[in-house]
Amino acid sequence: MKVLLVGGGGREHALAWRIAESPLLTKLWCAPGNPGIAAHAECVAIGAEDIPALVGFARENGVDLVVAGPEAPLTLGLADACAEAGIACFGPGKAAAMLEGSKTFTKEVLDAAGAPTAAWKRFDDPAAARAYVREQGAPIVVKADGLAAGKGVVVAATLEEAEAAIADIMESRVHGAAGARVVIEECMMGEEASFFALCDGERALPLAAAQDHKRVGDGDTGPNTGGMGAYSPPPAFTDAMRDEVMARVVNPVLAEMARRGSPFRGVLFVGLMLTATGPRVIEFNVRFGDPECQALMMRLRSDLLPALLASARGDLSGVELEWSADPSLVVVMAARGYPGAVKKGDPIGGLDKAAAIPGVRVFHAGTARGADGAVVASGGRVLGIGAIAGNLRAAREAAYAAVDALDWPGGFCRRDIAHRAL
Ligand code: AMP
Ligand code: GLY
Repeated sequence: MKVLLVGGGGREHALAWRIAESPLLTKLWCAPGNPGIAAHAECVAIGAEDIPALVGFARENGVDLVVAGPEAPLTLGLADACAEAGIACFGPGKAAAMLEGSKTFTKEVLDAAGAPTAAWKRFDDPAAARAYVREQGAPIVVKADGLAAGKGVVVAATLEEAEAAIADIMESRVHGAAGARVVIEECMMGEEASFFALCDGERALPLAAAQDHKRVGDGDTGPNTGGMGAYSPPPAFTDAMRDEVMARVVNPVLAEMARRGSPFRGVLFVGLMLTATGPRVIEFNVRFGDPECQALMMRLRSDLLPALLASARGDLSGVELEWSADPSLVVVMAARGYPGAVKKGDPIGGLDKAAAIPGVRVFHAGTARGADGAVVASGGRVLGIGAIAGNLRAAREAAYAAVDALDWPGGFCRRDIAHRAL
């Protein structure tokens, strides 16, 4: 089977690694890929958002399955364009990708499905939004309705913060058009977990859960990021919770999406708050999480490719995936300055030494090849240092030993990944 993987970050490196191991695979391309992915796939210089070029490449090269890593190509209609060309695509069509693209759409679907989530209201008018937060009181959550690169959410501890968020999002338009509308939500309390389910439009197969670390600094301090580390499974997310989320969230949401004529295929990322009254949905994403995907792929024991294909073709029946009981952990190495502006082009040494540590795997996220062929930093999140071991503490030790084996003065990481579990 010929596969085209779309994307070029740590998530795609982890997917490329597992897809490349499949006995069903005959050829793997990745667009645009990165130097780490190049060990498993032929990288092609097509941007992950260039839908016509991706589909054109797939058609010319007889690709059997396109696998979308990030959400952007999906919200731009990659799966729909593949369907038109008669090519299977892992990931939802544009209409179903609204579960990530629009917060109000998601809340409407959750309510229609009867799924547990925060009470919410939508506003087009800043004055009405302000009046509502005054009436509700703090803490309260203010969200830009559209895609805001994960930065459109303010968990306001005070009314002043909430009103400032409304002004920034709706009046100053700090996230552009995404701030034309806001969603104001009840603030839920608890630990967060990311749960993943493979979907075929009708059926869903639970994958595994992970816990991300969104803040840049140790002890969950500093600004939000795309994720500074993850581990799987999070002990706070029990099997009973998984069953409850499948029964009360994933299955009813799939039924509601099908009823609306936009069945969901691909991987549903359920962002959960584990509250005192049970797991409640914070948000959905329509793709694997990053770095969560790296942690999941390290625990996966089965062939990933047939599962991706079954989801894309709309029939997951009979698919089973086996997971290692051993926990995995990923430490993200970012370039100094992240999540703000970063310096690019610094060489990264010690990659082989890090990868030689037992149980460790180094995923490339934002790397490139310098003029002399050396691996250099080229993004905010640069590497994912994954480790798997008999217990979480040992996995953490192995991951940080690998971090310490790297020679990259321009990089940094959090030193407390999995602190909630340890
Ligand atoms: P989102 O972009 O929707 O994932 O939100 C980003 C972060 O904001 C989440 O990971 C949570 O930490 C927090 N958050 C979002 N919605 C709520 C909520 N209703 N209650 C408490 N925290 C929230
Ligand atoms: N790590 C969170 C995300 O992928 O959205």
